[in-house]
Amino acid sequence: MKPLAQIPLRIPRSGIREVMDLALVAEKQGPVIHLEVGQPDFATPAHIVEATCRAVREGHTRYISTAGIGPLREAAARSYERRTGVPTSASQILVTTGAMMSLATAFMTLLEAGDEVLLPDPGWPNYSTSVALARGVCVPYTLQAPLFLPDLDQLQSLVTPKTKILLVCSPSNPTGQVHDAALTEALVAFARRNDLWVVSDEIYSEIVFGGPAPSVLSFDTDERCLVVSGVSKTYAMTGYRIGFTRGRQDYITVAAKLQEPFVSCGTAFSQLAAVAALEGPQDCVAEMRAAYHRRRDIALDVLRARGLYRYTPGGAFYVMVDISDAAMSSREFTLRLLEEKRVAVAPGGTFGAMSERAVRVSVASSDEDVREGVTRICDFIAEAKARAGK
Ligand SMILES: Cc1ncc(COP(=O)(O)O)c(C=O)c1O
Repeated sequence: MKPLAQIPLRIPRSGIREVMDLALVAEKQGPVIHLEVGQPDFATPAHIVEATCRAVREGHTRYISTAGIGPLREAAARSYERRTGVPTSASQILVTTGAMMSLATAFMTLLEAGDEVLLPDPGWPNYSTSVALARGVCVPYTLQAPLFLPDLDQLQSLVTPKTKILLVCSPSNPTGQVHDAALTEALVAFARRNDLWVVSDEIYSEIVFGGPAPSVLSFDTDERCLVVSGVSKTYAMTGYRIGFTRGRQDYITVAAKLQEPFVSCGTAFSQLAAVAALEGPQDCVAEMRAAYHRRRDIALDVLRARGLYRYTPGGAFYVMVDISDAAMSSREFTLRLLEEKRVAVAPGGTFGAMSERAVRVSVASSDEDVREGVTRICDFIAEAKARAGK
């Protein structure tokens, strides 16, 4: 039998998935505190669920346009406009099956084999997998702890004639850091100077604790930015699989064609539910945001009290915890933490070499679980430190 293709074979297994699977097994022996998954712990708001059921009952269960239904493209255009103040028409919006497909589509639409993509390290692992599947080459740029912000000089030093895309993610998974307006503007200017496309992952843009997160769109004078967003995180709709790209019309036309060979089209009733989410009452968003804010503060308070505070994430629902004192790899740390303290977290190494001495804690869990889970992490670090004789 001829072998499977090399690129899929070489894709590393997600370290988060490994911990999730082990946590499920561990749960058979007793409760585990789950701080490993980047998923809201809230139910989808009732008015959105109701809109879903209504759409199914009314027969919205058939194939739809590959670019998405008109009402959702219009609602998404309005939501970009509300957030950034930049005029946006429905024809500049592509609806995809989750923000992930917006990202994958961007790489497939823009990259020739061997083109280079500047990716944040630490960064969401699906970026590099998706770039590799599009036959692109990943070039990591450093987000240096403790602040985890990009350095423009380093970015410049990484540019070659093959560089085609700068990927930015703010608020960031896994760090929760938010780029301020000056940095956002500088990143777009850097891309313009080097004639790069910007793919900006703004999926966490509504989960911010210190005022709105600036968008690259506000500084995009020559339409080089593709802004990815969606409803998964903001409205606790991860299973609906709805994402958006806002970009140039010629890009959207080609990218829409690419949906056909992958997903045929999106799901009509999910898309109608997303219209209800974007156009309906927004107090659910404010409530969830307040809960994540409170839980971030709970995590930081525990870290502060134990001398492990390093930085304050401005958004998303993640905190990176420095595990240098424990003197072990992030994978060993997460596996032993699960076994000995019954807390599941994501190993920093899965997000890139720069976070090998950290673990990612998701605060999208109850207040009690965040407090108790982070306390046990601190205990574990202290015990490992004592054992290592530090
Ligand atoms: C940074 C980042 N971008 C994109 C996504 C994908 O979102 P979706 O579930 O809408 O595909 C995620 C999901 O975890 C994410 O963390």
